Amino acid sequence: MALRHLIFGAAWAAGSAVAASVSCPTNLPLSCQNTTAVSNTCCFNYPGGQLLLTQFWDTNPSTGPNNSWTVHGLWPDNCDGTFSQYCDTSREYTNITAILAKAAPSTLAFMQTYWKDYQGNDESFWEHEFGKHATCISTLDPECYTNYQPTQEVPDFFTRAVSLFQTLPSYDWLAAAGIVPSKTATYTLAAIQAALTAHHGHNVIINCNSNGELDELWYQYNVRGSVQTGTFTPVDPVGSASTCPKTGIKYLPKSGTGTTTTTSKTASATSTSTKSTGAASTTPAGVLSGKGYLYVDTSSTTSDGFLISSGAWYRAGGTPATYTATPNSDGTTFSLSSSKGKCAILSDSSLSCGASVSTASSFAYDGTHLTFQGSAKFYASAVPTGQTQGTIFTSTQAVSLAIAWNSQ
Ligand SMILES: *[C@@H]1O[C@H](CO)[C@@H](O)[C@H](O)[C@H]1NC(C)=O
Ligand SMILES: *[C@@H]1O[C@H](CO)[C@@H](O)[C@H](O)[C@H]1NC(C)=O
Ligand SMILES: *[C@@H]1O[C@H](CO)[C@@H](O)[C@H](O)[C@H]1NC(C)=O
Repeated sequence: MALRHLIFGAAWAAGSAVAASVSCPTNLPLSCQNTTAVSNTCCFNYPGGQLLLTQFWDTNPSTGPNNSWTVHGLWPDNCDGTFSQYCDTSREYTNITAILAKAAPSTLAFMQTYWKDYQGNDESFWEHEFGKHATCISTLDPECYTNYQPTQEVPDFFTRAVSLFQTLPSYDWLAAAGIVPSKTATYTLAAIQAALTAHHGHNVIINCNSNGELDELWYQYNVRGSVQTGTFTPVDPVGSASTCPKTGIKYLPKSGTGTTTTTSKTASATSTSTKSTGAASTTPAGVLSGKGYLYVDTSSTTSDGFLISSGAWYRAGGTPATYTATPNSDGTTFSLSSSKGKCAILSDSSLSCGASVSTASSFAYDGTHLTFQGSAKFYASAVPTGQTQGTIFTSTQAVSLAIAWNSQ
Protein backbone atom coordinates (compact mmCIF):
# COMPACT_ATOMS: atom_id res chain seq x y z
CA MET A 1 0.00 0.00 0.00
CA ALA A 2 2.76 2.42 0.93
CA LEU A 3 4.59 1.62 -2.28
CA ARG A 4 1.46 2.15 -4.31
CA HIS A 5 0.99 5.58 -2.78
CA LEU A 6 4.57 6.44 -3.42
CA ILE A 7 4.29 5.61 -7.11
CA PHE A 8 1.13 7.63 -7.64
CA GLY A 9 2.51 10.47 -5.50
CA ALA A 10 5.62 10.70 -7.64
CA ALA A 11 3.69 10.72 -10.91
CA TRP A 12 1.34 13.39 -9.67
CA ALA A 13 4.21 15.54 -8.36
CA ALA A 14 6.03 15.37 -11.69
CA GLY A 15 2.90 16.47 -13.54
CA SER A 16 2.12 19.39 -11.30
CA ALA A 17 5.69 20.69 -11.18
CA VAL A 18 5.63 20.93 -14.96
CA ALA A 19 2.54 23.07 -15.14
CA ALA A 20 3.79 25.40 -12.41
CA SER A 21 7.18 25.93 -13.98
CA VAL A 22 5.84 27.19 -17.30
CA SER A 23 3.25 29.69 -16.19
CA CYS A 24 3.60 32.54 -18.66
CA PRO A 25 2.52 36.18 -18.82
CA THR A 26 -0.78 36.48 -20.67
CA ASN A 27 0.06 39.66 -22.57
CA LEU A 28 2.57 38.09 -24.96
CA PRO A 29 1.67 38.07 -28.66
CA LEU A 30 0.64 35.02 -30.64
CA SER A 31 3.60 33.18 -32.14
CA CYS A 32 4.34 34.35 -35.71
CA GLN A 33 2.20 37.44 -35.10
CA ASN A 34 4.57 39.55 -32.96
CA THR A 35 5.36 43.04 -34.20
CA THR A 36 8.43 43.48 -31.99
CA ALA A 37 11.03 41.01 -30.80
CA VAL A 38 10.01 38.71 -27.92
CA SER A 39 13.01 37.46 -26.02
CA ASN A 40 11.36 34.91 -23.70
CA THR A 41 11.23 31.81 -25.92
CA CYS A 42 10.07 29.73 -22.95
CA CYS A 43 6.72 31.53 -23.23
CA PHE A 44 6.81 32.39 -26.95
CA ASN A 45 7.37 29.68 -29.54
CA TYR A 46 10.30 30.78 -31.65
CA PRO A 47 11.55 30.17 -34.28
CA GLY A 48 9.03 27.31 -34.65
CA GLY A 49 5.93 29.45 -34.13
CA GLN A 50 3.63 27.70 -36.60
CA LEU A 51 2.48 24.53 -34.84
CA LEU A 52 1.02 21.72 -36.94
CA LEU A 53 -1.15 18.95 -35.56
CA THR A 54 -0.93 16.28 -38.23
CA GLN A 55 -3.13 13.23 -38.68
CA PHE A 56 -2.94 10.01 -40.69
CA TRP A 57 -5.55 7.92 -42.44
CA ASP A 58 -3.67 4.62 -42.86
CA THR A 59 -5.37 1.89 -44.88
CA ASN A 60 -2.50 -0.24 -46.16
CA PRO A 61 -2.01 -1.58 -43.58
CA SER A 62 -4.80 -0.04 -41.54
CA THR A 63 -4.00 1.48 -38.17
CA GLY A 64 -6.28 2.67 -35.39
CA PRO A 65 -10.06 2.52 -35.12
CA ASN A 66 -11.96 2.36 -38.42
CA ASN A 67 -13.90 5.53 -37.58
CA SER A 68 -11.04 7.78 -36.55
CA TRP A 69 -7.95 9.36 -37.99
CA THR A 70 -4.76 8.78 -35.99
CA VAL A 71 -2.09 11.17 -34.71
CA HIS A 72 1.02 11.74 -36.79
CA GLY A 73 2.63 14.47 -34.72
CA LEU A 74 2.83 18.01 -33.37
CA TRP A 75 5.44 19.92 -35.34
CA PRO A 76 6.98 23.39 -34.91
CA ASP A 77 7.30 24.94 -38.37
CA ASN A 78 8.86 28.36 -38.75
CA CYS A 79 6.52 31.22 -39.63
CA ASP A 80 7.51 30.97 -43.32
CA GLY A 81 6.84 27.21 -43.54
CA THR A 82 10.48 26.09 -43.32
CA PHE A 83 11.40 24.04 -40.28
CA SER A 84 14.23 22.80 -38.10
CA GLN A 85 14.62 19.19 -37.02
CA TYR A 86 16.64 17.15 -34.51
CA CYS A 87 17.43 20.26 -32.47
CA ASP A 88 18.94 18.46 -29.45
CA THR A 89 20.50 15.05 -30.01
CA SER A 90 21.05 14.68 -26.26
CA ARG A 91 17.27 14.37 -25.88
CA GLU A 92 16.60 11.63 -28.44
CA TYR A 93 15.08 9.40 -25.78
CA THR A 94 14.65 5.69 -26.36
CA ASN A 95 12.18 5.05 -23.54
CA ILE A 96 9.10 7.13 -24.39
CA THR A 97 6.70 4.36 -23.35
CA ALA A 98 8.41 3.95 -19.97
CA ILE A 99 8.46 7.71 -19.37
CA LEU A 100 4.76 8.05 -20.16
CA ALA A 101 3.78 4.92 -18.22
CA LYS A 102 5.19 6.65 -15.14
CA ALA A 103 4.31 10.30 -15.73
CA ALA A 104 1.23 10.32 -18.01
CA PRO A 105 -0.44 6.88 -18.08
CA SER A 106 -3.75 8.10 -19.49
CA THR A 107 -1.98 9.88 -22.34
CA LEU A 108 -0.08 6.64 -23.03
CA ALA A 109 -3.31 4.62 -23.03
CA PHE A 110 -4.86 7.00 -25.55
CA MET A 111 -1.76 6.87 -27.75
CA GLN A 112 -1.82 3.08 -27.80
CA THR A 113 -5.10 3.33 -29.72
CA TYR A 114 -4.79 6.60 -31.63
CA TRP A 115 -1.07 7.26 -32.24
CA LYS A 116 -0.08 4.25 -34.27
CA ASP A 117 2.92 3.26 -36.33
CA TYR A 118 1.90 1.57 -39.57
CA GLN A 119 4.72 -0.96 -39.09
CA GLY A 120 3.49 -1.80 -35.60
CA ASN A 121 6.41 -0.20 -33.74
CA ASP A 122 4.74 2.60 -31.81
CA GLU A 123 7.68 3.21 -29.46
CA SER A 124 10.09 3.91 -32.30
CA PHE A 125 7.52 6.14 -34.05
CA TRP A 126 7.05 8.15 -30.85
CA GLU A 127 10.85 8.38 -30.38
CA HIS A 128 11.14 9.72 -33.92
CA GLU A 129 8.41 12.30 -33.41
CA PHE A 130 9.96 13.51 -30.17
CA GLY A 131 13.58 13.54 -31.36
CA LYS A 132 12.88 15.12 -34.73
CA HIS A 133 10.18 17.66 -33.83
CA ALA A 134 9.62 18.14 -30.09
CA THR A 135 13.28 18.96 -29.48
CA CYS A 136 12.72 22.01 -31.74
CA ILE A 137 9.81 23.40 -29.69
CA SER A 138 11.42 26.28 -27.82
CA THR A 139 9.04 26.23 -24.84
CA LEU A 140 9.90 22.57 -24.13
CA ASP A 141 13.55 23.38 -23.71
CA PRO A 142 14.99 22.00 -20.42
CA GLU A 143 16.08 25.51 -19.44
CA CYS A 144 12.41 26.53 -19.38
CA TYR A 145 11.84 24.31 -16.34
CA THR A 146 12.84 25.27 -12.84
CA ASN A 147 14.63 22.31 -11.23
CA TYR A 148 14.43 20.42 -14.51
CA GLN A 149 14.29 16.66 -14.09
CA PRO A 150 15.50 14.61 -17.09
CA THR A 151 12.63 13.75 -19.53
CA GLN A 152 10.23 16.11 -17.75
CA GLU A 153 9.21 17.71 -21.07
CA VAL A 154 8.22 14.36 -22.62
CA PRO A 155 4.82 13.93 -20.93
CA ASP A 156 4.15 17.65 -21.55
CA PHE A 157 4.68 17.23 -25.28
CA PHE A 158 2.65 14.07 -25.75
CA THR A 159 -0.19 15.19 -23.47
CA ARG A 160 -0.55 18.46 -25.38
CA ALA A 161 -0.43 16.72 -28.77
CA VAL A 162 -3.12 14.26 -27.65
CA SER A 163 -5.39 16.95 -26.18
CA LEU A 164 -5.13 18.98 -29.39
CA PHE A 165 -5.86 15.90 -31.50
CA GLN A 166 -8.98 15.29 -29.41
CA THR A 167 -10.36 18.66 -30.54
CA LEU A 168 -10.01 17.65 -34.22
CA PRO A 169 -12.40 14.75 -34.98
CA SER A 170 -11.68 14.73 -38.72
CA TYR A 171 -13.59 11.51 -39.37
CA ASP A 172 -16.80 12.94 -37.89
CA TRP A 173 -16.36 16.29 -39.65
CA LEU A 174 -15.95 14.60 -43.01
CA ALA A 175 -18.80 12.16 -42.38
CA ALA A 176 -21.10 15.05 -41.44
CA ALA A 177 -20.53 16.37 -44.97
CA GLY A 178 -21.24 12.96 -46.53
CA ILE A 179 -17.54 12.23 -47.02
CA VAL A 180 -17.23 8.68 -45.77
CA PRO A 181 -14.72 5.93 -46.52
CA SER A 182 -15.63 3.97 -49.63
CA LYS A 183 -13.94 1.63 -52.06
CA THR A 184 -15.78 3.22 -54.98
CA ALA A 185 -16.80 6.80 -54.23
CA THR A 186 -14.47 9.69 -55.02
CA TYR A 187 -14.48 13.21 -53.60
CA THR A 188 -13.23 16.63 -54.64
CA LEU A 189 -10.54 18.56 -52.82
CA ALA A 190 -12.96 21.48 -52.52
CA ALA A 191 -15.57 19.34 -50.75
CA ILE A 192 -13.02 17.93 -48.29
CA GLN A 193 -11.59 21.38 -47.64
CA ALA A 194 -15.04 22.86 -47.08
CA ALA A 195 -16.00 20.09 -44.64
CA LEU A 196 -12.88 20.65 -42.51
CA THR A 197 -12.71 24.44 -42.77
CA ALA A 198 -16.29 24.61 -41.51
CA HIS A 199 -14.98 23.42 -38.14
CA HIS A 200 -11.33 24.52 -38.00
CA GLY A 201 -12.14 27.98 -39.37
CA HIS A 202 -9.09 28.00 -41.62
CA ASN A 203 -7.73 26.03 -44.53
CA VAL A 204 -6.23 22.65 -43.77
CA ILE A 205 -3.44 20.96 -45.76
CA ILE A 206 -4.96 17.84 -47.33
CA ASN A 207 -2.53 15.22 -48.55
CA CYS A 208 -2.90 12.17 -50.78
CA ASN A 209 -0.56 9.35 -51.72
CA SER A 210 0.52 8.81 -55.32
CA ASN A 211 -2.71 6.89 -56.03
CA GLY A 212 -4.83 9.91 -55.16
CA GLU A 213 -5.92 8.33 -51.87
CA LEU A 214 -6.51 10.73 -48.99
CA ASP A 215 -3.98 9.88 -46.27
CA GLU A 216 -2.98 12.92 -44.22
CA LEU A 217 -4.34 16.20 -42.78
CA TRP A 218 -2.29 19.08 -41.34
CA TYR A 219 -3.99 21.60 -39.04
CA GLN A 220 -2.02 24.83 -38.37
CA TYR A 221 -1.93 27.01 -35.25
CA ASN A 222 -0.20 29.98 -33.72
CA VAL A 223 0.17 29.80 -29.96
CA ARG A 224 -0.13 32.36 -27.18
CA GLY A 225 2.16 31.20 -24.39
CA SER A 226 3.92 27.85 -24.22
CA VAL A 227 3.01 24.65 -26.05
CA GLN A 228 2.50 23.11 -22.61
CA THR A 229 -0.08 25.52 -21.20
CA GLY A 230 -0.73 28.15 -23.88
CA THR A 231 -3.69 28.77 -26.16
CA PHE A 232 -3.67 27.35 -29.68
CA THR A 233 -5.32 29.60 -32.28
CA PRO A 234 -6.15 28.09 -35.70
CA VAL A 235 -4.53 29.89 -38.65
CA ASP A 236 -4.24 29.46 -42.41
CA PRO A 237 -1.24 27.33 -43.34
CA VAL A 238 1.99 28.98 -44.48
CA GLY A 239 4.20 26.63 -46.44
CA SER A 240 3.51 23.53 -48.47
CA ALA A 241 0.28 23.07 -50.41
CA SER A 242 -2.12 20.12 -50.41
CA THR A 243 -0.85 17.21 -52.48
CA CYS A 244 -4.25 15.77 -53.46
CA PRO A 245 -5.66 16.08 -56.97
CA LYS A 246 -8.59 18.49 -57.35
CA THR A 247 -11.03 15.71 -58.19
CA GLY A 248 -11.30 11.95 -57.98
CA ILE A 249 -9.88 11.69 -54.45
CA LYS A 250 -10.37 8.28 -52.85
CA TYR A 251 -11.01 7.86 -49.12
CA LEU A 252 -10.58 4.14 -48.63
CA PRO A 253 -12.14 2.25 -45.72
CA LYS A 254 -9.83 0.84 -43.10
CA SER A 255 -9.90 -2.94 -42.94
CA GLY A 256 -11.25 -4.51 -39.76
CA THR A 257 -11.82 -2.63 -36.56
CA GLY A 258 -8.17 -1.65 -36.22
CA THR A 259 -8.47 -1.51 -32.46
CA THR A 260 -6.32 -4.56 -31.73
CA THR A 261 -2.81 -3.66 -30.68
CA THR A 262 -0.23 -4.90 -33.14
CA THR A 263 2.40 -6.71 -31.18
CA SER A 264 4.16 -8.90 -33.71
CA LYS A 265 5.69 -6.52 -36.17
CA THR A 266 7.05 -7.27 -39.60
CA ALA A 267 5.20 -10.49 -40.28
CA SER A 268 1.75 -9.23 -39.39
CA ALA A 269 2.28 -5.89 -41.13
CA THR A 270 3.28 -7.68 -44.32
CA SER A 271 0.33 -10.03 -44.31
CA THR A 272 -2.12 -7.23 -43.46
CA SER A 273 -0.72 -5.20 -46.30
CA THR A 274 -1.20 -8.02 -48.79
CA LYS A 275 -4.71 -8.59 -47.54
CA SER A 276 -5.86 -5.02 -47.68
CA THR A 277 -4.51 -4.59 -51.21
CA GLY A 278 -6.80 -7.44 -52.20
CA ALA A 279 -9.72 -6.00 -50.27
CA ALA A 280 -9.28 -2.59 -51.90
CA SER A 281 -9.99 -4.01 -55.35
CA THR A 282 -13.65 -4.03 -56.34
CA THR A 283 -15.97 -6.80 -55.27
CA PRO A 284 -16.32 -9.18 -58.24
CA ALA A 285 -19.49 -9.12 -60.30
CA GLY A 286 -22.22 -11.49 -59.18
CA VAL A 287 -24.14 -12.21 -56.06
CA LEU A 288 -23.54 -10.05 -53.01
CA SER A 289 -23.99 -11.50 -49.57
CA GLY A 290 -23.48 -10.24 -46.05
CA LYS A 291 -23.55 -6.74 -44.60
CA GLY A 292 -22.50 -3.57 -46.35
CA TYR A 293 -23.20 0.06 -47.13
CA LEU A 294 -24.79 1.50 -50.26
CA TYR A 295 -23.22 4.66 -51.66
CA VAL A 296 -24.60 6.94 -54.36
CA ASP A 297 -22.30 7.73 -57.31
CA THR A 298 -23.26 10.73 -59.43
CA SER A 299 -21.41 12.50 -62.22
CA SER A 300 -20.30 15.12 -59.70
CA THR A 301 -18.47 13.79 -56.65
CA THR A 302 -19.73 16.69 -54.57
CA SER A 303 -23.29 15.35 -54.89
CA ASP A 304 -22.53 11.83 -53.76
CA GLY A 305 -23.93 10.47 -50.54
CA PHE A 306 -25.32 7.23 -49.26
CA LEU A 307 -28.54 5.33 -48.64
CA ILE A 308 -30.27 5.52 -45.28
CA SER A 309 -32.35 2.60 -44.00
CA SER A 310 -35.54 3.59 -45.88
CA GLY A 311 -33.65 3.31 -49.18
CA ALA A 312 -33.53 7.09 -49.61
CA TRP A 313 -30.48 9.06 -50.76
CA TYR A 314 -29.02 11.33 -48.08
CA ARG A 315 -26.05 13.70 -48.14
CA ALA A 316 -26.23 15.89 -45.05
CA GLY A 317 -24.12 13.82 -42.69
CA GLY A 318 -24.63 10.94 -40.31
CA THR A 319 -23.61 7.49 -41.35
CA PRO A 320 -24.79 5.11 -44.05
CA ALA A 321 -27.29 2.43 -43.05
CA THR A 322 -26.20 -1.18 -42.86
CA TYR A 323 -27.79 -3.32 -45.56
CA THR A 324 -27.89 -7.09 -45.66
CA ALA A 325 -27.54 -8.83 -49.03
CA THR A 326 -29.00 -12.34 -49.16
CA PRO A 327 -28.37 -14.56 -52.20
CA ASN A 328 -31.51 -15.83 -53.96
CA SER A 329 -31.98 -19.48 -54.94
CA ASP A 330 -31.57 -18.61 -58.67
CA GLY A 331 -27.82 -18.29 -58.02
CA THR A 332 -27.55 -15.00 -59.96
CA THR A 333 -29.39 -12.42 -57.89
CA PHE A 334 -29.78 -11.36 -54.27
CA SER A 335 -32.23 -9.44 -52.15
CA LEU A 336 -31.52 -6.47 -49.91
CA SER A 337 -32.88 -5.50 -46.52
CA SER A 338 -32.15 -2.80 -43.96
CA SER A 339 -33.17 -2.38 -40.31
CA LYS A 340 -36.49 -0.99 -41.66
CA GLY A 341 -37.34 -4.15 -43.61
CA LYS A 342 -37.10 -5.67 -47.07
CA CYS A 343 -36.14 -3.55 -50.07
CA ALA A 344 -38.08 -3.47 -53.35
CA ILE A 345 -38.63 -1.43 -56.48
CA LEU A 346 -42.30 -0.45 -56.06
CA SER A 347 -44.89 -0.06 -58.86
CA ASP A 348 -44.02 3.64 -59.25
CA SER A 349 -40.39 2.49 -59.83
CA SER A 350 -39.17 3.93 -56.50
CA LEU A 351 -36.73 2.08 -54.24
CA SER A 352 -38.14 1.54 -50.78
CA CYS A 353 -37.14 -0.51 -47.74
CA GLY A 354 -39.61 -1.04 -44.92
CA ALA A 355 -42.12 -3.17 -43.09
CA SER A 356 -44.72 -2.51 -45.82
CA VAL A 357 -42.55 -4.27 -48.42
CA SER A 358 -43.82 -7.86 -48.56
CA THR A 359 -41.73 -9.17 -51.46
CA ALA A 360 -38.11 -8.17 -51.83
CA SER A 361 -36.90 -7.33 -55.34
CA SER A 362 -34.01 -9.18 -56.97
CA PHE A 363 -30.83 -7.20 -57.56
CA ALA A 364 -27.50 -8.10 -59.13
CA TYR A 365 -24.04 -6.56 -59.01
CA ASP A 366 -21.88 -5.74 -62.05
CA GLY A 367 -18.58 -5.51 -60.16
CA THR A 368 -18.97 -1.79 -59.53
CA HIS A 369 -22.64 -1.04 -59.06
CA LEU A 370 -25.96 -2.52 -58.10
CA THR A 371 -28.15 -3.50 -61.06
CA PHE A 372 -31.90 -4.02 -61.35
CA GLN A 373 -33.27 -5.92 -64.37
CA GLY A 374 -29.89 -5.60 -66.08
CA SER A 375 -29.38 -1.87 -65.62
CA ALA A 376 -27.08 -0.04 -63.21
CA LYS A 377 -28.88 3.25 -63.89
CA PHE A 378 -30.97 4.75 -61.13
CA TYR A 379 -32.46 8.24 -60.95
CA ALA A 380 -33.74 10.97 -58.66
CA SER A 381 -35.73 14.11 -59.36
CA ALA A 382 -32.98 16.27 -57.81
CA VAL A 383 -29.80 16.06 -55.76
CA PRO A 384 -31.04 16.19 -52.15
CA THR A 385 -29.87 19.22 -50.18
CA GLY A 386 -29.86 19.89 -46.44
CA GLN A 387 -31.89 17.32 -44.53
CA THR A 388 -33.86 16.25 -47.63
CA GLN A 389 -34.10 12.52 -48.30
CA GLY A 390 -34.06 11.84 -52.03
CA THR A 391 -36.24 9.07 -53.42
CA ILE A 392 -34.42 6.82 -55.87
CA PHE A 393 -36.23 5.54 -58.99
CA THR A 394 -35.46 3.12 -61.81
CA SER A 395 -37.47 5.18 -64.33
CA THR A 396 -35.81 8.20 -65.94
CA GLN A 397 -35.67 11.41 -63.90
CA ALA A 398 -33.55 14.57 -64.01
CA VAL A 399 -30.56 13.20 -62.07
CA SER A 400 -28.83 10.01 -63.11
CA LEU A 401 -26.94 7.98 -60.51
CA ALA A 402 -25.51 4.58 -59.68
CA ILE A 403 -25.39 2.70 -56.39
CA ALA A 404 -22.14 1.22 -55.11
CA TRP A 405 -21.74 -1.52 -52.52
CA ASN A 406 -19.11 -1.40 -49.81
CA SER A 407 -19.06 -4.56 -47.72
CA GLN A 408 -18.45 -4.21 -43.98
C1 LIG B 1 9.21 38.24 -33.39
O1 LIG B 1 10.03 37.75 -32.36
C2 LIG B 1 11.23 37.12 -32.81
C3 LIG B 1 11.91 36.53 -31.59
O2 LIG B 1 12.26 37.52 -30.68
C4 LIG B 1 12.08 38.12 -33.55
O3 LIG B 1 13.26 37.49 -34.03
C5 LIG B 1 11.30 38.69 -34.71
O4 LIG B 1 12.05 39.70 -35.36
C6 LIG B 1 10.00 39.27 -34.18
N1 LIG B 1 9.19 39.74 -35.32
C7 LIG B 1 8.94 41.04 -35.52
C8 LIG B 1 8.11 41.37 -36.71
O5 LIG B 1 9.36 41.90 -34.79
C1 LIG C 1 14.46 7.27 -19.70
O1 LIG C 1 15.78 7.48 -20.15
C2 LIG C 1 16.44 8.61 -19.58
C3 LIG C 1 17.81 8.73 -20.20
O2 LIG C 1 17.71 8.94 -21.56
C4 LIG C 1 16.55 8.46 -18.07
O3 LIG C 1 17.09 9.63 -17.52
C5 LIG C 1 15.16 8.20 -17.49
O4 LIG C 1 15.28 7.92 -16.11
C6 LIG C 1 14.46 7.07 -18.19
N1 LIG C 1 13.08 7.03 -17.68
C7 LIG C 1 12.43 5.90 -17.39
C8 LIG C 1 11.07 6.04 -16.83
O5 LIG C 1 12.90 4.82 -17.59
C1 LIG D 1 -15.90 -0.64 -37.88
O1 LIG D 1 -15.73 -1.68 -36.96
C2 LIG D 1 -16.93 -1.99 -36.24
C3 LIG D 1 -16.60 -2.98 -35.15
O2 LIG D 1 -16.13 -4.19 -35.68
C4 LIG D 1 -17.96 -2.52 -37.24
O3 LIG D 1 -19.15 -2.84 -36.57
C5 LIG D 1 -18.23 -1.44 -38.25
O4 LIG D 1 -19.10 -1.90 -39.23
C6 LIG D 1 -16.94 -0.97 -38.93
N1 LIG D 1 -17.26 0.21 -39.72
C7 LIG D 1 -16.77 0.44 -40.94
C8 LIG D 1 -17.16 1.72 -41.59
O5 LIG D 1 -16.02 -0.35 -41.49
